[in-house]
Amino acid sequence: MEVKEALQKRRSVRKFTDEPVPEEAVSALLHAAMSGPSACNRTPWEFWVVTQAEALQALRGASRFTNYDAKLAIVVSGNLSRALPQQLAEYWIQDCSAATENILLQATALGLGAVWCGIYPQKRAQTKVAGILGMTEKQIPLNIIFIGYPAESPDPRDQYKESCVHWVK
Ligand SMILES: Cc1cc2nc3c(=O)[nH]c(=O)nc-3n(C[C@H](O)[C@H](O)[C@H](O)COP(=O)(O)O)c2cc1C
Repeated sequence: MEVKEALQKRRSVRKFTDEPVPEEAVSALLHAAMSGPSACNRTPWEFWVVTQAEALQALRGASRFTNYDAKLAIVVSGNLSRALPQQLAEYWIQDCSAATENILLQATALGLGAVWCGIYPQKRAQTKVAGILGMTEKQIPLNIIFIGYPAESPDPRDQYKESCVHWVK
């Protein structure tokens, strides 16, 4: 699939079939994630691949906007012990966001559907997700990506708006 096609086809999918995501697809998603750029190549990301029914059920209750019945979730988290020092540490958020978008695009190319559900910086949701997955204080959940075979197909789109662009010529 061409990049442009994947970019336009990638839409948030919130309804999924019961078909499990095969291991090779999960592996491709993780490779895509870790192909992303990170500040000074610190790669401060960690990925929690969740297929256990109880954990999925618990993750659905992380916030008001996470109640999606997928058979797979990947929780993208930053590990602060690998982040840059001092105020640069917050680059982990950009690093993990780049990894997240890579997962979404790879999912699209594989015919999967996915939705990025933000957790950080919602403290209550962070505490819930960290508790469900047994994270340490250094591990900060950025989001939950629910992934599966789509049971809905939002139309591809291009949201280009000239008003969002400042040309400096
Ligand atoms: C940082 C971030 C947090 C988001 N959190 C949620 C969420 O909690 N629940 C949800 O259903 N969608 C969530 N989304 C998906 C957005 O609602 C969605 O990307 C947006 O409406 C545009 O639609 P599209 O993804 O189909 O292009 C989030 C997206 C981003 C980037």
